[in-house]
Amino acid sequence: MHIPLDSRLPKTFPIAKIRRETEMVRTLTFKASFGAKPGQFVMVWIPGVDEIPMSVAFDDGKTLQLTYFAVGDATRALAEYKVGDLVGLRGPFGTFYSWKSKQKLALVAGGYGAAPMYFVAKQAIKDRCTLEVFVGARSAEHLLYLKEFSMLPKTTLHVTTDDGSKGWKGFNVGLLEKLLTDRKHSKKHPFVHQIFACGPERMLVSVSRLALAKNIPSQLSLERYMKCGYGLCGNCVVDPLGIRLCIDGPVVDNKLCSQIAEFGEYHRDAVGKKHAF
Ligand SMILES: Cc1cc2nc3c(=O)[nH]c(=O)nc-3n(C[C@H](O)[C@H](O)[C@H](O)COP(=O)(O)OP(=O)(O)OC[C@H]3O[C@@H](n4cnc5c(N)ncnc54)[C@H](O)[C@@H]3O)c2cc1C
Ligand code: FES
Repeated sequence: MHIPLDSRLPKTFPIAKIRRETEMVRTLTFKASFGAKPGQFVMVWIPGVDEIPMSVAFDDGKTLQLTYFAVGDATRALAEYKVGDLVGLRGPFGTFYSWKSKQKLALVAGGYGAAPMYFVAKQAIKDRCTLEVFVGARSAEHLLYLKEFSMLPKTTLHVTTDDGSKGWKGFNVGLLEKLLTDRKHSKKHPFVHQIFACGPERMLVSVSRLALAKNIPSQLSLERYMKCGYGLCGNCVVDPLGIRLCIDGPVVDNKLCSQIAEFGEYHRDAVGKKHAF
């Protein structure tokens, strides 16, 4: 895959807008476009701190949005940034979700995965797709993008929380499984043609198993520690296939995903040390 030099080098952009989603989650808007497709990511450089990958939450050719969870060094530093402060961006990198016109899609989103799924939804609707969206979180205050999804045409929004504080009590994948049974999903009368998922790896494992059991094509967004973002450093290689998730992912077909031995088991840190999920 050829990545132009221009995409490999960071350029700085002022933050045009900051939207508070929840206590820990913010969406940044930049007056810039990377021509990104839903599922792709950019590397975000926070000068003097770190450079980290982030999924593109929206790119309409004029504005770029990123939604992040302030969890560690880089993201907490970013949370201190104000409108007008400069952030380095390079990309877009990686694979993206693909669908056919008029397909029925199930979008399963956990955590900040709701942001790239919203980007998928906006684009897929243009292709006259019908959407069943499953947004899940631990509890009501952690749910993201509900208002945005609820305003989309041809979209049914299903909300789940682990503690039952909003929507269906249980996991979003559990509700999808229930609906596939209730609606008597079959190849002839499909409830959905494809399942797309973005969120914590444990959620992705459940989606992967369900999709394989029901024989529904599925695309999952996998995260691994990324440094270069374009296939050079080898930091994002997964066992035993040796594929680089910055190039062959982050969006991976479920058939390929099920050949990744470390999927749902472990990931590697900046120096390649294994950590169990
Ligand atoms: C393809 C991809 C898309 C992502 N999209 C988003 C997004 O849209 N929003 C969001 O909030 N987060 C996203 N992340 C995760 C984000 O990159 C990490 O949360 C972030 O790196 C945390 O960094 P930190 O310095 O704040 O925390 P740290 O304290 O450094 O680390 C917190 C956790 O993040 C992991 N991490 C740190 N640096 C990286 C890195 N360079 N690559 C991968 N993991 C790392 C650490 O191993 C640790 O588990 C994405 C990751 C990948 C690989
Ligand atoms: S992040 Fe460097 S090869 Fe993937």
